[in-house]
Amino acid sequence: MKRFGRLLFCFCLTIAFGGIIVNAQDFHSYANPAAVRVRHVDLDWNVLFQQKILKGTATLTIDRISPSEPLVLDTRDLKIDQVETSVDGTRFQAGTFTLGAADKILGAPLTIQLPAKATRVRIHYSTSPGASGLQWLEPAQTAGKKDPFVYTQSEAIHARSWIPLQDTPSVRVTYSARVRTPRNLLAVMSAENLSGTVRDGDYSFRMRQPIPSYLIALAVGDLRFRALGPRTGVYAEPSTLALAARELSDTEKMVVATERLYGPYRWGRYDILVLPPSFPYGGMENPRLTFATPTILAGDKSLVSLVAHELAHSWSGNLVTNATWRDFWLNEGFTTYLERRILEAVYGRSREEMEAALGLRDLNDEIASLPDADEILHIDLKGRDPDDGSTDIPYEKGALFLRHLEQTFGRARFDQFLKSYFNHFSFQSITTEQFQAYLKQNLLDKYPDLASKVPVDEWINQPGVPASAPKPTSQAFAQVETEASRWLSNQIPAARIPTARWSTQEWQHFLTFVQNSFEPPASGGAAGTQLSQTEKARLMSELDRAFNLTRSGNSEIVFQWLVMSIRNQYEPANARLEEFLMTVGRRKFIRPLYQELAKTPAGKEKALAIYRRARPTYHPIAVTSIDDVLKWSGE
Ligand code: BES
Ligand code: ZN
Repeated sequence: MKRFGRLLFCFCLTIAFGGIIVNAQDFHSYANPAAVRVRHVDLDWNVLFQQKILKGTATLTIDRISPSEPLVLDTRDLKIDQVETSVDGTRFQAGTFTLGAADKILGAPLTIQLPAKATRVRIHYSTSPGASGLQWLEPAQTAGKKDPFVYTQSEAIHARSWIPLQDTPSVRVTYSARVRTPRNLLAVMSAENLSGTVRDGDYSFRMRQPIPSYLIALAVGDLRFRALGPRTGVYAEPSTLALAARELSDTEKMVVATERLYGPYRWGRYDILVLPPSFPYGGMENPRLTFATPTILAGDKSLVSLVAHELAHSWSGNLVTNATWRDFWLNEGFTTYLERRILEAVYGRSREEMEAALGLRDLNDEIASLPDADEILHIDLKGRDPDDGSTDIPYEKGALFLRHLEQTFGRARFDQFLKSYFNHFSFQSITTEQFQAYLKQNLLDKYPDLASKVPVDEWINQPGVPASAPKPTSQAFAQVETEASRWLSNQIPAARIPTARWSTQEWQHFLTFVQNSFEPPASGGAAGTQLSQTEKARLMSELDRAFNLTRSGNSEIVFQWLVMSIRNQYEPANARLEEFLMTVGRRKFIRPLYQELAKTPAGKEKALAIYRRARPTYHPIAVTSIDDVLKWSGE
């Protein structure tokens, strides 16, 4: 019976949408949106810093498609106090619910019985202090050191750890929220702020456009705002605000450039929230309010590709959304492609070439280490944590595929295609199959001769990259290689390498080139003569003396330098490594550093000693992955 019900359900999930078949089965949600679909959420919380919990209610407005079915929601570590239902939308009566067994990845289904004609459901609940989607910071973990801070990170499936909802990107909701905080703190959300500028500890929000659950976001702390342009601005702690505003001053220009390429920005404002350094990601594209790591504040705007990226998601991801996590490349591959188009428009072709070349390097490294099945854009993630799908494959292979289409069909045609794609699917969640059908109809079938040059199925469903894939190169990087080779072959001392006008990207390429000549990478490439350990140490310290790399304030450069230092046992960087791991929580940086350390017994010792102290300051998402790297069993 049960099994039959489920089968029928899967069948029902194949819904007809405007003539297109959507197979929206999401293995990462318990929800049954084909039978009952949530379309609006009203939230009301007290933010309790003492207890590290959010406590309040979520009131869901639902569409009853199969009127006899209960409502099934996703939850993780939520304490459900009471459930009420309402027929007229205003008067609520006690309801019955069951909370199922918890799965390690998916959490627990909350099944709510629905009286006939009930269209609203209110859940009284609180979160747990260890909620995977929240990070509660002690004052010491903030820039100001005086006040606590809390922020959310919902993607991929962490919204369920702070809101009971249908936590699948195939369901879109509008939302409102009322948030009570300590009086001196400010709450911000991925929504319109209805509270004006008064800081009184009582804030109201409204998101009028339907968004997937992973884009619901909240942060509370001692935050200040500064305008950057007419519809752009930045929030940060007071001591970070001026630096952030200077660094991000091209934001409005980027919005204008993207609109020119892909049509109007549909979300009203575009603000950026600069978080404390424990934020586990570089950025998160929460609508109207990108969340960003402070590690992009390099002082010279060299790392603002992150803004281009998160802004691009306002089209690819937030407007047209991956229906399930196996379609994640529709979000990230498109966005990485758009990011580079924005960079080209604002900073010129050379910058774009460098970023694309760095992307290709990352992709090749990733392909050298991943199993075949994980190199597929339309990846099978059933039974796995969708955060595992976040490799360079969806990002860089996805972007390279679109670049191949652009180069084959020509920029004008491809730009037109993308613009109409964003319009056609705006405010919808779509599958890879839907994209493929749209591509066929609107580009491939129109130019069959050109279409035969792009192996679309191979791009989407096979590992690796097709032989005909573009190979982005950079003139500037070729020059860097020439200079580096002169130094490596003892023709000039390090201090004479003409680095004065190098960008961060040129430094990144230089360091990669040097490391590859020390030790050829698994993915092939420049094979140098084998250098002795002493020779490598001499070269490392010569570089450090000439360019003070150990003390670099640029997070990308110092990160790469620290990886090299571990590999080449360059001891003078030890203190900086420890300091970096103790202050920065961005997973992209800290995971490779721990991985590198863990390769030798002495390094592993060192890693564990640092991790023991750093772990309580890291975000739950970072903790999960570093625990894995170090086989941490708890102490
Ligand atoms: N949406 C992602 C972040 C994300 C992906 C969070 C998957 C959780 C699960 C965001 O847009 C992103 O890609 N951030 C990158 C930076 C970007 C410049 C490549 C990051 O955080 O490293
Ligand atoms: Zn992204």
